[in-house]
Amino acid sequence: MQRASIFAILFLSGIATIFAANVSKATAKGKQTYDTESFMHAVKDDGLHTKVIKGEATRKEQKLFSAFVNAMPNNKPPKGSAESWAALTNALLQATANHRKGVAGSGEALAAAMTCKACHENHKVYPPKE
Ligand code: HEC
Repeated sequence: MQRASIFAILFLSGIATIFAANVSKATAKGKQTYDTESFMHAVKDDGLHTKVIKGEATRKEQKLFSAFVNAMPNNKPPKGSAESWAALTNALLQATANHRKGVAGSGEALAAAMTCKACHENHKVYPPKE
């Protein structure tokens, strides 16, 4: 019984720490966090980047995408050098800014900056089986 409550306390303080870290990382209001994983799920499950690239995103989706992109340089990748991460995430930031301004060719540039493999190869840890 006592053991269980110690675990409960450890568990809750762990949650609190994670929560505090995410809140300080988030650049915008509210409880939405802009960590890499949330971004990746919006990309994979919702095709958020595709909507933005095609110009089919709603205002809300566009804002969400920008918030994710803005947070990326400050997110920490699970692997790879800081230099590589800074280069990739800042390229994404720049491509997103140009795309929002409607710069010619910015859709292609944004698609290139969103290339899954280029970033994953250096910064994503693949599970042993998959
Ligand atoms: C600028 C870098 C970058 C780009 C571009 C990128 N990813 Fe990722 N992605 C990451 C990193 C870093 C992780 C590992 C996150 C972690 O484990 O904390 C990741 C993890 C993921 C995951 C696993 C999320 C999880 O639950 O752990 C999925 C799914 C994913 N990416 C999908 C995509 C798809 C689809 C694309 C292309 C359309 C893409 N990503 C483009 C950096 C990127």
